[in-house]
Amino acid sequence: MDKNKKPYYITTPIYYPSGNLHIGHTYTTIAADALKRYKKIQGYDAYLVTGTDEHGQKIQEEADKRGVTPLEFTTGIVKTVKELWEKLEIDYDQFVRSTDSEHEKNAQDIFQKLYEKGEIYKGVYEGYYCTPDESFWTESQLDENGHCPECHRPVIKKTEESYFFRLSKYTDKLIKLYEDVPEFILPERSKKEMINNFLNKGLDDLSVTRTKESLKWGVEVPFDDKHVIYVWIDALTCYLTGIGYGQDEEKFNHYWPAGIHLMSKEIVRFHTIIWPALLMALGYDLPNRVFAHGWILFDDTKMSKSLGNVVYPEPFIDLYGIDALKYFVLREFTFGQDGSFTNEKFLNRVNSDLVNDLGNLVSRTIAMVEKYNEAIVVESKTKGEFDEDLQNIAKNAIVNVERHMEELAFSYALEDIWTLIRRTNKYIDETSPWVLIKEDKDRLDTVLYNLIESVRIIAQLIEPFLPHTSKLIFEQLGIESMGWDSAREFGLYPVGNKVTKGENLFPRLDIKKELEKIQKANDELFQQRVGSVKKEESKEGIKPAIEFEDFEKIDMKVGKILECEKHPDADKLLVFKVKIGDETRQIVSGIKKWYEPEQLIGKKVVVLMNLKPRKIRGIESQGMLLSAEKDGELSLLSVLNDVEDGSGVA
Ligand code: MSP
Repeated sequence: MDKNKKPYYITTPIYYPSGNLHIGHTYTTIAADALKRYKKIQGYDAYLVTGTDEHGQKIQEEADKRGVTPLEFTTGIVKTVKELWEKLEIDYDQFVRSTDSEHEKNAQDIFQKLYEKGEIYKGVYEGYYCTPDESFWTESQLDENGHCPECHRPVIKKTEESYFFRLSKYTDKLIKLYEDVPEFILPERSKKEMINNFLNKGLDDLSVTRTKESLKWGVEVPFDDKHVIYVWIDALTCYLTGIGYGQDEEKFNHYWPAGIHLMSKEIVRFHTIIWPALLMALGYDLPNRVFAHGWILFDDTKMSKSLGNVVYPEPFIDLYGIDALKYFVLREFTFGQDGSFTNEKFLNRVNSDLVNDLGNLVSRTIAMVEKYNEAIVVESKTKGEFDEDLQNIAKNAIVNVERHMEELAFSYALEDIWTLIRRTNKYIDETSPWVLIKEDKDRLDTVLYNLIESVRIIAQLIEPFLPHTSKLIFEQLGIESMGWDSAREFGLYPVGNKVTKGENLFPRLDIKKELEKIQKANDELFQQRVGSVKKEESKEGIKPAIEFEDFEKIDMKVGKILECEKHPDADKLLVFKVKIGDETRQIVSGIKKWYEPEQLIGKKVVVLMNLKPRKIRGIESQGMLLSAEKDGELSLLSVLNDVEDGSGVA
């Protein structure tokens, strides 16, 4: 902490350690790290907090699968998370685990404060409960069949005692906040979404606890041991713990309020509605800005373990270095918009921007000074054509970078630097030093000086984004970084200084070969991290044994499909008329992806008869069609012989 400097507090989300972190989490953390370095270099006392959000049902399940306690499980993952951030040289100041005892105390303390202020009260929570998963869902979270969105099994409506936060009373205050502080949420699109989808409709009070029967793995409510604090109060307050809440008041007061909370768009609601409302209720200042960047997509879908398209950062770092990965994610994706990730894009960008543009410029420049001037940078002598243009572009680069960084437009800021890199490469071609050595040594000295000076400014500007590469370039230049502002001036490189050629910054890649390498490395990692667990899961994927009487409660019969149509209001649903003996039932089923309606007419299927009827997207479903499903492929169950509809199934 440096009290003489202006503080700038940055957070990444507190990630769920339900599995190893992937390239999506890495993206946010790389951006946060670059921003921290950028603010630091500009003279701020920048402070970065990251961490892990370790309580909740999902973590409990992952631990159960492996036969370990939740804390044992998360401790294992946290180790890999910290190793990853170390590998990437992420300059974080505090790593908060929501299971840290200081944090658990803080979460309880804050809960208690809110309760005492009358901001939290006891009520009854009504939700859809998935018994096998032991989790509650809201109606909008259920899948197309009205089933559990996680395991797709039927849910039951259930009520339980719960504590509520008076979120509803903050609707107007939040609208006013958005009006008074227009840059509180960026990008603009996220703000509109919050206003239209939530604030304009009016907020409901928020259930902030679960009973221990429905959620075991969580922080206990301080004054009621039947309840645990439900994720968001526990998770969001990690941002306070990270700067010494409850431990070091001076530090807390120095860094709070946060300069910026970074995340991607799916959790923006928690940060721009629930979080400011909680802070208002507590009487704390509000963060200055919440920035929701876009998603990194794979084949236009979000990554998921079940789709097997998880991309881990480690192979990229091991094969191509930290800065190649940092550069790619910051340059390729426009911060705030979705973008799609492919290994080809990565490799092409490394070859074009890092190998061809930057790597070549540095190695050519240093090599020429070595060759023509015995590695000594001599005074600039005769001015010539192109000098002024180069110098102007060099001096302007910092102005453009700063302008773009104001909006967190990392990709544009990097493009500004690459404009200078490309201009400098062009300057070499325009001035042809290999001709000047024979014809005009004075002019050659000027050209070499200008090149070195341009490279120095480039090394300076990339420092927050590609710190590793920046350091290597400074080493070759034989000087240390002269500070951010030195990029404003052209002509600071000390005459008489010696340069030293180093290794190539980025070796050229054979795309075809490298594609195979990355794929192999990532597949192996996936297999090691997820595959082995998946196998276990399918072994254990058998539900606990039941008694015969339980089985007898299930009534299944053979039915004949008479009619089948698309659901008028849902893309994934089909509506069936099924004849089962004397009766005809209407059944809604989410299988449209696998069948055309006409294909199914006349087919014999197996119907679960005594599932309570329920409306699915407005149409009553009076039973369920059974089907077999694995790895995203589905087949309706039928019968081998042509038995009569209405026959019992057992
Ligand atoms: N635990 C909560 C956050 C609590 S913050 C008080 C959580 N964790 S998470 O592990 O799911 O992390 C979500 C965050 O990871 C996103 O908001 C984003 O920062 C990052 N990303 C994860 N996958 C991503 C992509 N595919 N693309 C870009 N970033 C995404 O939510």
